[in-house]
Amino acid sequence: MPPDRLATGVGSIDRLLGGGLETDSITELYGEGGSGKTLLCLEVAHRVAREGRWVLYVDTEGVSVDRLRSIAGDSLERILKRFLLSTPKNLEEEGRAVATACALAREGKRPVGLIVVDSATFYYRLSLSGADEDDARTALSLELAELVATALAAHVPVLVTNQVWRNLRDGTLEPLGGSFVNHVAKTILRFDRLPGARRRVTLVKHRSLPEGTAEFRITDSGLEG
Ligand code: GTP
Ligand code: MG
Repeated sequence: MPPDRLATGVGSIDRLLGGGLETDSITELYGEGGSGKTLLCLEVAHRVAREGRWVLYVDTEGVSVDRLRSIAGDSLERILKRFLLSTPKNLEEEGRAVATACALAREGKRPVGLIVVDSATFYYRLSLSGADEDDARTALSLELAELVATALAAHVPVLVTNQVWRNLRDGTLEPLGGSFVNHVAKTILRFDRLPGARRRVTLVKHRSLPEGTAEFRITDSGLEG
């Protein structure tokens, strides 16, 4: 079965993506802090839950419910009934949360419309400076491999966010997690801040679409573009 598209609801981003996020694979959002990655995850999650499908949301930042309130308004309680939210406190808990989400999606008892891991590299980054760096790499690889397999098996889009590090050689911002994250993600969107509430999204990788850019604005009730 060819992949379907899940509209994000942000017009400019949906046009850039040829209709929306692909089911069956991972879409990676990377970019500097405050560039809008979490807000896009929540925007899509809100749409999916509003349509009655389940959102499996792994939130390492612990901010999602407050932000979701601005998007969902009075319908927050109804939207949350379709959310399975986990807030892991370390890389090990994150691995278990992702495994649970994947198992639920594959089990098929509930109609799952979206899996989100925001951020997939927060705890990974914290582990990099310690003695358990290899373990962190292994944990991230296993987590992503499981998400790839689940997207395909359950025909569900997977959104993961990724933070950046500054390459001191040329000053560029690079996604964390090295080539592995970039390899497993079939679609990669880079987020950049523009003045004020404006943000730019660049389609860096897609299996069938050319590179391109889109802009959107952050407003009090969500993203407009
Ligand atoms: P990190 O998780 O730190 O990497 O950032 P991110 O890319 O996930 O950024 P996020 O989606 O959290 O976007 C945050 C940006 O949206 C910041 O610039 C906030 O100031 C802005 N923002 C968040 N909520 C609102 C809101 O309700 N109204 C407005 N106008 N801006 C908001
Ligand atoms: Mg974020």
